[in-house]
Amino acid sequence: MDKFNIAIDGPAGAGKSTIARLVANTLGFVYVDTGAMYRAVTWKVLSSGISPDHTADVIAVTDRMDIRLAPGENGQQVFVDGHDATAEIRSAEVTGNVSQIAAIADVRRILTVKQKRLAAVKGVVMDGRDIGSHVLPDAELKIFLTASVRVRAERRYNEIQDQRASVTLEQLESEIAARDRMDEQRKTAPLVQAPDAVLLDTTSMTIHEVVERILELCRTEV
Ligand code: C5P
Repeated sequence: MDKFNIAIDGPAGAGKSTIARLVANTLGFVYVDTGAMYRAVTWKVLSSGISPDHTADVIAVTDRMDIRLAPGENGQQVFVDGHDATAEIRSAEVTGNVSQIAAIADVRRILTVKQKRLAAVKGVVMDGRDIGSHVLPDAELKIFLTASVRVRAERRYNEIQDQRASVTLEQLESEIAARDRMDEQRKTAPLVQAPDAVLLDTTSMTIHEVVERILELCRTEV
């Protein structure tokens, strides 16, 4: 089989984007970070002065906005209506509001259409929360990446030291746990392991080991 799609889902901070990007680079596939799309909507909503509680306005903004993903040196670059929002979509404010926006069924419907379109060509590694269960149920390989909440908080802590110097590990742990809860409990396309997904607990695995395991699954399972 030449080209196929890989769905990588899992909770916040499990290392999905780093791993998905490395797998995509090795295979010569396109990497699509769907979390960046939900973050882009959240950034647009907040920077337009719209309250995330005003669902109808949030949906109208989502419908109108143009989101483009492009490969960048340190991950995926994200353009919103032509504006490079790559850094802004990672702010603490966006992170704190994104799960509320992502729980709106019509926001998900609009972004899911875009995501399916991006994957139609095959040769895509797509990461998110509902890719294997909902967006690409026919993906040839599905991975559910997880790790203990403590380890995920530690990884995030090391990552964001420059931007949020005052944040504590405990604070990050509770933010991550709260976001997981919202993502798991929402009505539409919640965070769930698809029945045919391979579970990889990365708590005591290195990035290299996880990437190698996924590449091995590509050889043996696809
Ligand atoms: O992957 P990342 O942590 O950047 O995702 C940010 C948020 O976007 C998640 O916490 C979740 O609320 C939402 N999301 C989603 N479905 C996806 C990808 C992300 O609901 N497929």
